[in-house]
Amino acid sequence: MTATTARVLAGPPAAAALLAETAARARRLPTPPHLALVRLGEDPASMSYVRGKDRKAREVGLRSTVYALPETTSQDELLALIARLNADDGVNGLLVQLPLPAHVDEEAVLHAIDPRKDVDGFHPANVGALWAGRPTLTPCTPAGVMALLAHYGLPVAGQRAVIVGRSHIVGRPMAALLLNADATVTVAHSRTRDLAAVTREADLLIAAVGRAHLLTPDMVKPGATVVDVGINRVSGGPEGKTSLTGDVHPDVAAVAGALTPVPGGVGPMTIAQLLANTVTAAERQQAEG
Ligand code: GUN
Repeated sequence: MTATTARVLAGPPAAAALLAETAARARRLPTPPHLALVRLGEDPASMSYVRGKDRKAREVGLRSTVYALPETTSQDELLALIARLNADDGVNGLLVQLPLPAHVDEEAVLHAIDPRKDVDGFHPANVGALWAGRPTLTPCTPAGVMALLAHYGLPVAGQRAVIVGRSHIVGRPMAALLLNADATVTVAHSRTRDLAAVTREADLLIAAVGRAHLLTPDMVKPGATVVDVGINRVSGGPEGKTSLTGDVHPDVAAVAGALTPVPGGVGPMTIAQLLANTVTAAERQQAEG
């Protein structure tokens, strides 16, 4: 047998296409869509994500405002800010960066966001619409995965899709999106028996657990498309630096037909999809008058 190497599904070209389309849609609106980004505390990863979202928003011609609140902000203060941004007709999209400090009830915060401005797609009204097959605003990472697959012309309908991970941010909405696109969907998780037997069935394998190198070559069907949503910070790089690695072991490239790299795979799609959602929210608000 000759060694093969999976086709690399690079995020940046797919993200650039989605960003260009998003910028064109934004230009057709009377005023630039406005995204409000809220974060609490100084978690370096959250600060970096919010900075990236803010920068990209401006690059595609959106307005963006970052509300960087202290770690000690009370839940009532945060809810008051959300109420103010909900009521502000000049704000089209509103995102509260997760995770929140332990003293803030995440569910109460996500439920307080106006579903029409909920560009994360985490409000129960939007979650319900997605599962009912009538998607409104859809969580950015899984929607970004769908856009990436479409960009590279990879089939979804009729495919056996296995998602490893059942989080509210990725695994569950990913399942709904793939089901809506006519895949046959299995969601595996930490209590799944014989995970390898399940994942080997997959034509389309989505790894979204947050455990470095969990998926090894023996768990992948030859020729499968593998999407790696994991972003794990591991130490032990040169000079003790941390580096980013996915949930998929690098040796999977010798078995898979196509594989997303980490970094540079799904990550750029998440931000591009957030901005697409912001334009969608603004378009709908304008249509409603
Ligand atoms: N933290 C990690 N991923 C996300 C996301 O998609 N949205 C928000 N708001 N916070 C996150």
